[in-house]
Amino acid sequence: MDILTGSFFMYLKMIMGTLKTELIQMWPDLIQKSKDGGVDVIETYVFWNLHEPVRGQYNFEGRGDLVGFVKAVAAAGLYVHLRIGPYACAEWNYGGFPLWLHFIPGVKFRTDNEPFKEEMKRFTAKIVDLMKQENLYASQGGPIILSQIENEYGNVDIHYGPAGKSYINWAASMATSLDTGVPWVMCKQVNAPDPIINACNGFYCDQFTPNSNNKPKMWTENYSGWFLAFGGVVPYRPVEDLAFAVARFFHRGGTFQNYYMYHGGTNFGRTTGGPFISTSYDYDAPIDEYGIIRQPKWGHLKDLHKAIKLCEEALIATDPTISSPGPNLETAVYKTGAVCAAFLANTGTTDSTVTFNGNSYQLPGWSVSILPDCRSVILNTAKINSVSMTSSFTTEFLKEVGSLESSSLRWSWISEPVGISKADAFSKYGLHEQINTTADRSDYLWYSLSIVDEDNAGAQPVLHIKSLGHALHAFINGKLAGSGTGKSGRAKVKVDIPITLVAGKNTIDLLSLTVGLQNYGAFYDRVGAGITGPVILKGLKNGSTVDLSSQQWTYQVGLQGEDLGLSSGSVGQWNSQSTLPTNQPLTWYKTKFVAPSGSNPVAIDFTGMGKGEAWVNGQSIGRYWPTYIASKSGCTNSCNYRGSYSSSKCLKNCGKPSQTLYHVPRSWLRSDSNILVLFEENGGDPTKISFTTKQTESVCSHVSESHPPPIDSWNSDTESGRNIGPVLSLDCPYPNQVISSIKFASFGTPHGTCGNFNQGRCNSNKALPIVQKACIGSSSCNIGVSVNTFGNPCQGVTKSLAVEAACT
Ligand code: GAL
Repeated sequence: MDILTGSFFMYLKMIMGTLKTELIQMWPDLIQKSKDGGVDVIETYVFWNLHEPVRGQYNFEGRGDLVGFVKAVAAAGLYVHLRIGPYACAEWNYGGFPLWLHFIPGVKFRTDNEPFKEEMKRFTAKIVDLMKQENLYASQGGPIILSQIENEYGNVDIHYGPAGKSYINWAASMATSLDTGVPWVMCKQVNAPDPIINACNGFYCDQFTPNSNNKPKMWTENYSGWFLAFGGVVPYRPVEDLAFAVARFFHRGGTFQNYYMYHGGTNFGRTTGGPFISTSYDYDAPIDEYGIIRQPKWGHLKDLHKAIKLCEEALIATDPTISSPGPNLETAVYKTGAVCAAFLANTGTTDSTVTFNGNSYQLPGWSVSILPDCRSVILNTAKINSVSMTSSFTTEFLKEVGSLESSSLRWSWISEPVGISKADAFSKYGLHEQINTTADRSDYLWYSLSIVDEDNAGAQPVLHIKSLGHALHAFINGKLAGSGTGKSGRAKVKVDIPITLVAGKNTIDLLSLTVGLQNYGAFYDRVGAGITGPVILKGLKNGSTVDLSSQQWTYQVGLQGEDLGLSSGSVGQWNSQSTLPTNQPLTWYKTKFVAPSGSNPVAIDFTGMGKGEAWVNGQSIGRYWPTYIASKSGCTNSCNYRGSYSSSKCLKNCGKPSQTLYHVPRSWLRSDSNILVLFEENGGDPTKISFTTKQTESVCSHVSESHPPPIDSWNSDTESGRNIGPVLSLDCPYPNQVISSIKFASFGTPHGTCGNFNQGRCNSNKALPIVQKACIGSSSCNIGVSVNTFGNPCQGVTKSLAVEAACT
């Protein structure tokens, strides 16, 4: 522990959560909800392309206020793990690197390359200095207890050969030389040189060991779910499995684990990577995209954190003694002097019983029981005692600004010209790669060509186009003739579009677009996009073929509307007199609306639109793409948490649009008049979009009479915890709310889930009045789950209490 003793209190067990640096107005609430969930440390990436969008021009304002973020975490009494990288991954555009880096002469990313190393060092030092100036490192009395350099380079280093190894050694000594006074980690870097701590990332890290006995066992990314792509199904991870993974880690000597993500939020603007990562980065995290607690995930993890912390004295005092009392059974005892804590694990998928210290313990399959005194089970990872919640989106009929009655919004529009319309267009022979041409200033690049071929007037050839991705639209003589789209994991596009050539000039305008730049893989920074060809006319008269690839094409980076600044809604000649064009490609739309009242989170339902980007009061809420439908198969409504989890194990939303709802942060909305601007690429009907607000409908809890007593009642000295018995607790999610009605209550054998509970054969008719009396009018209530409270409606059966309540 040499490295860590230098940095004082670090030798604690830490539960952490990753927050993406979201909107500044959301920070305090998100941080507080993390703290309430039992998180000690907030981990955040530092996105280079956010903080230095132009070389030498830094942005630490608004969402980029890194110092403000770190201070907000400190103000809540939590610590910070600052993952400077500067490579991040994170499904973030270009993995976090700024595009200008790609254009530095001779640069090669993430290898032993002087121009790259110089820039990486400059940025890393810049961030470290910024933190030091504000005394934010723990060595200065601040909250930052840990920093990360690079990210998962061990996954790709083999492709960089010996230069990769010298790069990692350089990165280690460069970071160390910055003298932060707190440790550095590299994740997934088996050969991380001393004193850098190599950390584990994955769905499970209990089997991980660091590369030296002097280093603590750390887990930088425990995936609370998984990311979503446009065109993909929605992944989720059952909390029983997540809790099992965490408990197993501490069972086997872990010191420090981080949820990736604890809150993933929204990738506003053009910040998503991929390509094809959706705008929502909800991640099935304990705090959802909108900042609302996700139950029972948040609550069960909160209970788990309490249970682990009850063992803290033993955990930090000694290493575990591990034994295997039977097949798939493993016990861990942390014992020193009078202090003793134990973990009992069943790593098989069927229920089992373990005898430990002369007592017999039931262990559900794929679960860990935690015994803070080596005798009493305070928590089993498969038994959820926390509240669950249902929430829903309610459509809001918005008034247009200034109107009294009308519920429909009034729209105006501008048509984006097809093909070349800007003065900075240029011509070049051949087909050129897109990212090198646009430098990612826009998603869009026009490739335009005019041909005159009188011999083929009236011919109906096929236009064959090959593109590196990510999607394209082909316009012939100003009309959309066809489109092609790649998908997550296969960005390339190949299309054959039937066209008709007219006499005289024929114009071929190809609009190529990116949907977030690659963020992962060896040499990912050089993965290209755009129409690199060939572009061929096949099946001309006489069966001939013409390859247009090496012709002189005219290029236009971005849209005219982007240059004009139409997204602000305050410039441009917007049409509103004649009929609103619908299902027209390349159309800008604008409306004014009054924000939904109240304080519930707001989203726009883009059903009816095709693909594009949306701005509210000039702020981009991201790319929308409700027409990209997820595959029909592979989903399950009730994913069995037992057995190893993978990102493709538990999927939902098959056959539906990957993302229909798009978060509009409350802080971007004005109370009076708001402007919504859309750029629609494919064609859609803006009158079909609707505004929704998200609210919690019910809070529920379902607790068995065989459940351990509540963790808060635990007191190992008096053994009071063991006498109390199980308790069902309900808490309203928002301050100032009270329980207004009990929608369901049954003691017996009720079944179902929150919002869908049903009575079983065994049911005490006293349950409803007892729960009503105990709960209505209070913001929270506790009810003992036992026959003492409800009488015994059926002998010889293990009974449970299920309650659904409404909070208002
Ligand atoms: C990891 C990476 C994270 C994120 C995650 C998947 O490999 O370190 O930044 O990309 O995968 O969400």
